[in-house]
Amino acid sequence: MSNSYDIIIVPDPVLKQTAQPVSKVDAAVQKQMDKMLATMYEAPGIGLAANQVNLLNRVLVMDLARKDEGEAPTPICMANPEIIWESEELSVMQEGCLSIPQQYADVERPARVRVKYLNREGKQDELEADGLLSHCVQHEIDHLNGVLFVDYLSSLKRNMMLRKVQKLKKQMVL
Ligand code: NI
Repeated sequence: MSNSYDIIIVPDPVLKQTAQPVSKVDAAVQKQMDKMLATMYEAPGIGLAANQVNLLNRVLVMDLARKDEGEAPTPICMANPEIIWESEELSVMQEGCLSIPQQYADVERPARVRVKYLNREGKQDELEADGLLSHCVQHEIDHLNGVLFVDYLSSLKRNMMLRKVQKLKKQMVL
């Protein structure tokens, strides 16, 4: 059995669907988290949500460590993440997505959020995030709700990006 998943590329209905909460973090969910991390590192990316690997439970993984600069891994695994607070202050950052390869755009989101979730051990945990981590966790939670970063853009810009991905798919057999 492979140690990583195939990443779903747009357009695909699974990326538009709402993922369902897990009842608990059991061995199967832990295995899924580990395999999602391996998939993300291999890509490479800094975040991955279950929808992107064709699964519809509320699980996401992130790691912002710069491995290419020799930083040690800092994996974060979340089940049933929930934003319990967000700042009024907003932040604009360029985002990309493994499901929309090679496309990037500025996205505006709350600058800081607090997220409640179950960690890999199944314990209730909280994360307060700002900067890139804040954008990343909001982007991944969006995935679990069937929302992509291109959904925040004008339809003109969104369609342009989606067309570019179609071209890439044909050229590179993604
Ligand atoms: Ni994404």
